[in-house]
Amino acid sequence: MEDIEGDAVVVTGASSGIGGATARVLAADGANLVLAARREDRLEELADELESEYDVQALPVSTDVTEREQVDDLVEATVGEFGRLDGLVNNAGVGLGGEVAELTDEEYHTMMDVNVDGAFYATRAALPHLRETEGTVVFIGSFAGQYPRPGNPVYAATKWYVRGFAHSLAGQVGDDGIAVSVVNPTEVRTEFGSEQGDAFEEQYGPDEATEPEAIADAVRFSLGQAGTDAVNELDLYRRDKFSHF
Ligand SMILES: NC(=O)c1ccc[n+]([C@@H]2O[C@H](COP(=O)([O-])OP(=O)(O)OC[C@H]3O[C@@H](n4cnc5c(N)ncnc54)[C@H](OP(=O)(O)O)[C@@H]3O)[C@@H](O)[C@H]2O)c1
Repeated sequence: MEDIEGDAVVVTGASSGIGGATARVLAADGANLVLAARREDRLEELADELESEYDVQALPVSTDVTEREQVDDLVEATVGEFGRLDGLVNNAGVGLGGEVAELTDEEYHTMMDVNVDGAFYATRAALPHLRETEGTVVFIGSFAGQYPRPGNPVYAATKWYVRGFAHSLAGQVGDDGIAVSVVNPTEVRTEFGSEQGDAFEEQYGPDEATEPEAIADAVRFSLGQAGTDAVNELDLYRRDKFSHF
């Protein structure tokens, strides 16, 4: 895999789960991290951990990805600090509600705003800088964005959007040398789901679902493609997923 030492990588949703694990895996390989999410205390804690554990710089930037100006500022802060942007990991995401007939406007808009608008804002702001480094955008998709999810059609639709956007974008920016990747997990043991009950890390035991570090490794692999190559889509599923589909 390509060396990422000294690269500057933005991870959204870095305050928890897959985002936090991704930041750790990338820092272990020498990347400088820009950590984005709303919970600033968690970002600061993680930045301290990364800087003391690994020989890297980590910049916490409190960001609500639904606020376009904050996302623009996030990318500007990255380029201001590191003079470059090599990777963007569009990871921030939420799943709320479920039954369409009972879904509130707030639940609907929050999922659309974070999962769809947030990924769009960050990608748009990042592209001019990624052109200069021939960098990579990684989207965290989902099994729910590949197969129907009867339990939460709106969440599923946001992830179908992410995949559709990512693959079409790949066609638009591939000539510029930018790689676009989608990583699709099934259930991962994180705080996902905690807004409305037990988090997945409580619902599933260690032998029942994926650990966030495994998804982080998939992101690292996507960011590590050299030359003309790009990971198009990487499905990392529970091996018993289709037994319970
Ligand atoms: N866990 C799973 O089973 C699973 C499966 C497939 C795909 N995914 C996807 O994986 C990604 C990461 O989820 P996770 O499992 O790691 O869940 P998580 O532990 O709940 O983390 C979600 C992250 O998103 C951030 N976030 C939420 N709203 C935000 C906003 N408005 N602005 C900025 N950041 C925001 C949260 O940070 P703050 O609250 O601090 O802002 C948090 O860091 C999501 O896109 C999710 O859809 C998860």
